[in-house]
Amino acid sequence: TQILVLNGPNLNLLGRREPGIYGAKTLDDIEHELRERAGGRAELAFQQRNGEGELVTLVQEAGLAGHGIILNAGAYTHTSVAIRDAIKGSGATVIEVHLSNVHAREDFRHHSYLSPVCRGVIAGFGDLSYHLALEALLAP
Ligand code: DQA
Repeated sequence: TQILVLNGPNLNLLGRREPGIYGAKTLDDIEHELRERAGGRAELAFQQRNGEGELVTLVQEAGLAGHGIILNAGAYTHTSVAIRDAIKGSGATVIEVHLSNVHAREDFRHHSYLSPVCRGVIAGFGDLSYHLALEALLAP
């Protein structure tokens, strides 16, 4: 199984960005721990981009290759028709993840353009959200 763990805008700042909301771990920490959990069960690739178009391209490539995607699209979750169309258009199996519980936050974070075209959504468990998404993708 090949899985792309794709992170969107500002997630490169994890560890120093609003740690009360997003936790103290960096994206590198999360990558290491996720690789450990996957073990030999999946081949993981990690990418982070701040640009919407770059995320669209990476979703297309992974989707067309038949790879699963764990996607934290950051703020584009709430704005991007383009990323939604890339998921739908490439047939990608995507688990939408968020570190924070977006539904317990500002109203503008309550709506996701991506959720309707994702396999499922996991939000509010900090970095554990990524681990739960991995298990979901690997479940038979
Ligand atoms: C986020 C939630 C989004 O609303 C926010 O814009 C982010 C991070 C999360 O992981 O909790 O950048 O996706």
